[in-house]
Amino acid sequence: MEIRVRVGGIQSTEDDLIVVNLFEGVGVPGGAAGAVDHALGGAIAEAIAAGDLRGKKGETALFYPRGAIPARRVLVVGLGKAEGFGPDQVRWASAAAARKARELGVRSFSSMVHGAGDLAPDAAAQATVEGTILGLYRYHELKSEPVDRADPEQLTLVLLDPEVLPAVEEGARIGQIAAEAACLARDWTNRPANMATPSDLADEAEEIAGGFVSMTCQVVDEEQAAELGMGAFIGVAQGSEEPAAFVVMEHNAGRDDLDTIVLVGKGITFDSGGISLKPSEDMDRMRDDMGGAAAVLGTMWAVGRLSIPLHVVGIMPLTENLPSGYAYKPGDVLRAMNGKTIEILSTDAEGRLVLADALVYAGRYQPKAVVDLATLTGACVVALGRGVAAGAFSTDSGLLVRLQAAAGATGERIWPMPLYDEYKDSIESLTADLANTGGRMGGVGTSAIFLKEFAEGYPWTHLDIAGMVFEERPATPKRPPHLAKGGTGFGVRLLVQFLRDWATSG
Ligand code: BES
Ligand code: MN
Ligand code: ZN
Repeated sequence: MEIRVRVGGIQSTEDDLIVVNLFEGVGVPGGAAGAVDHALGGAIAEAIAAGDLRGKKGETALFYPRGAIPARRVLVVGLGKAEGFGPDQVRWASAAAARKARELGVRSFSSMVHGAGDLAPDAAAQATVEGTILGLYRYHELKSEPVDRADPEQLTLVLLDPEVLPAVEEGARIGQIAAEAACLARDWTNRPANMATPSDLADEAEEIAGGFVSMTCQVVDEEQAAELGMGAFIGVAQGSEEPAAFVVMEHNAGRDDLDTIVLVGKGITFDSGGISLKPSEDMDRMRDDMGGAAAVLGTMWAVGRLSIPLHVVGIMPLTENLPSGYAYKPGDVLRAMNGKTIEILSTDAEGRLVLADALVYAGRYQPKAVVDLATLTGACVVALGRGVAAGAFSTDSGLLVRLQAAAGATGERIWPMPLYDEYKDSIESLTADLANTGGRMGGVGTSAIFLKEFAEGYPWTHLDIAGMVFEERPATPKRPPHLAKGGTGFGVRLLVQFLRDWATSG
């Protein structure tokens, strides 16, 4: 989608559609909506008075000016309550407006910058653009029938004050990159496992890196991984016929003047559970078990586009988890890259195994911070709910605070969880240093304490995103329209914000 920014009055803008907004409970619209209302002879105020328009979050009302102003249509979108107003309401309203524009068959529309009166102009513009792009997202590459209505091709943000033009332009630029990066992650999350194999994802990583002079990509194959001592990663991979790939993307490699941040994403392209086979019901969903890797991939693309002045490393251990005659078995013992031995009690606790080697590998870079994202446990979903928040486990409170700030700004919520020593008792093994599960009780805590054994020598945060990568519920007026059914791209906007903040504040 093409995004433009222009200084002017929205009421005098010529376009297929113009979008203005309304807070809940406002009787007489002010600002840009007021100017349009005036030009329409009070039609908007009349709709409010009639009770047809209340300014509820994402509510829309359409008006036909019939020559009173240059625009063909006027759409008023509700922002919701003014109290506690924030950027997520802007994303919500922008997504609702964009979807309505598409429903109308509009090719080009103009909008005011939602929330510009209450938020910083760059943050308001960023959220407006993000909501628009995220709201229009659909996954239809495998449908034979063409989509009913094509997406609008162009959005113009119209603002009155020329002083804030540079800030709005910058916010719009960042919003477009962040949202497109999230959509890239959504595509890979939605794509079926037979079309999103470890090799497919590795190819995509190489293609993305190839697009930036700042970026390199190294694809470590199974043989090389074995030589590096990645026994845990190899153990998971050995049951699958698909070649596994341990992918390392690097932005600004060798720049020792820059802080190093490592991002790690769990990349199980299909999780059948292996020999500890999962029930077949809903097993199709386990194609999204690479949502962490997709988030890292999308973030690396954004990092390249934004030329973030940091040394950023993106690590994706990619493999399927399948049963076969070659598959690892319960009772087997694997040796991870740091020499620790792991007894397999369930082959379905495979995510922590591939992450173990990735976290050890991350130590090579002597990073200032490592953040991993993983669809690690059903227990985390039981604890925090579906689509509510990711669980955040951290060995460093400063790092957690930074991530919480980014979560607040992006609406990609994380909630702190404990790394109590007691969890370690649950993963004691008779035969090895550690067992790969601690049973049902405290299942999310024991998974995190397992990872901690491999995340040594640097500040680290683990995000369990199992409940966040895929939205199962269809859109309703109560659900955010920028988070439609399917892959969410969770983590991309969070990480992009976190990295941008780190780059500016050090
Ligand atoms: N990928 C799953 C976790 C998962 C489950 C994500 C449901 C999303 C929805 C992970 O590999 C897994 O199977 N975890 C097991 C761990 C158990 C065997 C200790 C789980 O959560 O049941
Ligand atoms: Mn599993
Ligand atoms: Zn898994």
